Amino acid sequence: MRIARLSAVVLLVIALMGPVPVGAAPAAERHTVAYDRYSVTVDGRRVLVQGAEFHYFRLPSPDLWRDVLEKIRAGGFNTVSLYFDWAYHSPRPGVYDFTGVRDIDRLLGMIDDLGLYAVVRPGPYINAETTGGGFPAWLKLVPGLARTSAPGYTAAYTEWLSRVNPIIARHQVTRGGPVLLYNVENEYQVNTDAAYMQALQDKARADGIDVPIVTNVCCDAGSWASTWGSGPGAVQIPGVDDYPQSFDCANAETAWGPWGEGVTERVRTDGPGYAAEYQAGAIDLNDTGYERCRELTGPEYMRFFYKNNAIASGSTMFSYYMTFGGTNWGWLSQPNDVYTSYDYGAAITEGRQLTTKYDEFKRQGYFLAAARPLTKTDPAPGPVSGNPAVQAAARANPDTGTQFVLVRHTDRAASTDDASTLDWNTPDGRYRVPVTVTGRGAQILVAGLDLGGQRLVYSTSELMTHATIDGRDIAVLYGSGGDGSGGAGSRGDGDRGTAGETVLRYRERPRVRVVEGTVASSFDPATGDLRLAYRHDGLARVEITGGGRRPALLLLGTHETVASFWRMDTGRGPVLVRGAHLVRNASVHAETLRLRADAAAGGPIEIFAPAKRVTVNGTATPVRRTASGSLLGTLRGPDPVRLPELTGWRGHDEAPEARPDFDDSRWTVADRTTSLSPYPPVTQPVLYADEYGYHYGNVWYRGRFTATGAETAVKLNAITGRRGSYLVWLNGRYLGTAKGGVEADAEPNNPDPGPGTFAVPPGLLTPGQPAVLSVLVENMGHNDDWTVDDNRMRQPRGLVGAAIVTAGASVPVSWRIQGAGPADPVRGPLNNGGLYGERNGWSLPGSVDRRWPAIGALAGTAVPPGVSWYRTSFRLDLPRGHDVSVALNFDGPLPTGHRVMIFLNGWNLGLYGGGMGPQTRFVLPAGLLRDGAVNTLALAVTAREPSVLGPVNLVTLGVQRGGTAG
Ligand code: GAL
Repeated sequence: MRIARLSAVVLLVIALMGPVPVGAAPAAERHTVAYDRYSVTVDGRRVLVQGAEFHYFRLPSPDLWRDVLEKIRAGGFNTVSLYFDWAYHSPRPGVYDFTGVRDIDRLLGMIDDLGLYAVVRPGPYINAETTGGGFPAWLKLVPGLARTSAPGYTAAYTEWLSRVNPIIARHQVTRGGPVLLYNVENEYQVNTDAAYMQALQDKARADGIDVPIVTNVCCDAGSWASTWGSGPGAVQIPGVDDYPQSFDCANAETAWGPWGEGVTERVRTDGPGYAAEYQAGAIDLNDTGYERCRELTGPEYMRFFYKNNAIASGSTMFSYYMTFGGTNWGWLSQPNDVYTSYDYGAAITEGRQLTTKYDEFKRQGYFLAAARPLTKTDPAPGPVSGNPAVQAAARANPDTGTQFVLVRHTDRAASTDDASTLDWNTPDGRYRVPVTVTGRGAQILVAGLDLGGQRLVYSTSELMTHATIDGRDIAVLYGSGGDGSGGAGSRGDGDRGTAGETVLRYRERPRVRVVEGTVASSFDPATGDLRLAYRHDGLARVEITGGGRRPALLLLGTHETVASFWRMDTGRGPVLVRGAHLVRNASVHAETLRLRADAAAGGPIEIFAPAKRVTVNGTATPVRRTASGSLLGTLRGPDPVRLPELTGWRGHDEAPEARPDFDDSRWTVADRTTSLSPYPPVTQPVLYADEYGYHYGNVWYRGRFTATGAETAVKLNAITGRRGSYLVWLNGRYLGTAKGGVEADAEPNNPDPGPGTFAVPPGLLTPGQPAVLSVLVENMGHNDDWTVDDNRMRQPRGLVGAAIVTAGASVPVSWRIQGAGPADPVRGPLNNGGLYGERNGWSLPGSVDRRWPAIGALAGTAVPPGVSWYRTSFRLDLPRGHDVSVALNFDGPLPTGHRVMIFLNGWNLGLYGGGMGPQTRFVLPAGLLRDGAVNTLALAVTAREPSVLGPVNLVTLGVQRGGTAG
């Protein structure tokens, strides 16, 4: 963590101003973290936390963590917010794994390398649409109400925190690392155990956590504050979660804050406003597809709600949920809200591609970083708007006087174009300033800001960034209207042609040279004001010299044209780059600028840097000097990518467990009569899979009984979580399938969850002879535990009722159960369930299939009910020095009768079809997908009825020259 050092005098002054020191550390590389009601400070310097929520556990490829983190940093974020998922690290009590894809020490080190801060959120409860809300399913067997002070639960979470806290502690800012804030629990305010909240904090302190402790409050900050804002359990900086757009992605066009204005409430007055989770995407509750969620939370929503929140709340800490969503690979997800993809409609897609939402983050994030006085503001009287339809709310920095004015429609829902004149009392005088709100636009206008050596009196353009490069102040400004179409996610260039006016102040008349575009200038010797008037179009360039200040270059664009700028900070000061797909890093060595950058297409690259020569990804790139003093060169686009066809499939029917003669003697006997679950079984014995240690994925049951001949049907109940089902065989004959129950309701108890009644075919059973009932039950993941009292984390999975319906005396059944084998030491506890193929390595690379029948193409293959496996391998040769995002693509209509579980080189990367939602493309993350090598694909198909497979192929989701290795 490289943090600018302040002089002792400055530190003393800041200390006298009074932020509360939280962690003080003597060693040279250590830093002091404190806060006051305005912001967090590091070594006395105020920090505006612009955070991106990122879940490492949803990206099982550490090299790609770096890719996403570099994209996050380049997008104007200075912080990542991280949940740590207990279930992901712990297959069973006392066993914890922090290696490989679970190596959070490496993750925090990477974050440090990139100069980012981290907000860490180790729960123990995290929600996050993860299985059990982060609770390992083995916690179901531990007595004591979770998320309270109950002793059993306390012992369990103490075990987790004792492992994770020391890793976090050594990466704190106070010890020279990136961890700035430590979050306890998750949206706890609907629950009530203050002692528990306090105990989590005491534990963190005992484990060496000395940065401020925060928590994320949901829904109604007021009620939480009255209980927890002070006294036991209170955290230092409570934050608030806001999801103003809801999760109704199906209605993206009409939604405009159905869940409110989204202004972050202040829970305590002695700390900064903290938007702990601010909506930056949505779960796809209605299976509409994540592109619609991206529209729901698109640039227009971001422009309005984020800017509105910043000015209305004065918050200086933001974390955007999600900035990259990732994948619910394996059995990672809580089943009721999500499917395999956790793309979330985020700014960076699941396939790691940048979207127009990313551009909007960049515009806003660069501004927040460049407008330093925003870290300390109070509400201020705003300019008076001449048109009541246009509102101008203001905040001002009490030390510098700098004003930040939000210009928006008074009526949040209005989408007309409205002009107004602001009567604006700026720090540099009173002005009548024309403004226009187009569509649902919102602008933060600035007055009285020092731009390096320049003085910005005010501008009706928005500031994106400013940087002093080679002794010249460069500022990038843009127009920012809505596009007038009214849709939350609509795109467009609504500011093109809108008027802009920027006023700078000089001691004497400066020389103004319009290098490009049409810009009128006038100078008022009485005030020293230089007024530039223009229309936002393309990118105008104005050079200003003399006037008693150092030279300046103003770059005046539309919001679309300025999105092509990248800003990077180097040891020789900031550089600006225009034109690459992404700039990952920049450094200046002698007179050479070394860029690490991605190109999605060939084209120009323009550079403002203290350099004469440029290398891109290590290759010298010829450049020439432009009229505006920049360097102009050409970037090479990517080479063509050829992906192999998926041919040479081999197939194998599975499910020997269905056969009566299958040897289940080593399976676990299922004969328990009690359970800690408050959800009672429909019949005895208790058949809940978790009771027998089978926590994830598919589970097999075999029930033996002696037939009487009077059996008419089998009556079952199973709880699988949403989208799950179960399949039933009697004496090897397939009886059919039923949907699993979503959950057992507590009040009143659902007497018939996930019901299925299967008629016994005549003649199948012989009186006096043994019979075997085989049932394959999917476990789609575990309920979360949002409200403590209903103990939903103990919702059962697997069979919850089983009876033979008979015309005669009742038929006793003895049960055995089999689920996943020991956790895969590399891929972890959530990768596999208990399918026969999984237990016998059919999901893994290797030659297990060499005797399987060849079926050639997959498309058109008929699949019988039950489980069948299909395997093939392919060699991948991608162009070197490229970042190619590859996905497995299923064509044809979504199948209803079967579901495909996808294994790439043994990694379980998702479920397709059979009611699993709209997803047809499954990301194959680089790292798991091996370039220059042979890869094995294994598909486990569970068919509920005779089915036919559709075509499957590899596709690219994005191709760039560059990448993390570039
Ligand atoms: C929040 C919660 C997150 C996540 C989000 C919805 O309330 O804190 O963990 O579940 O909702 O995606």
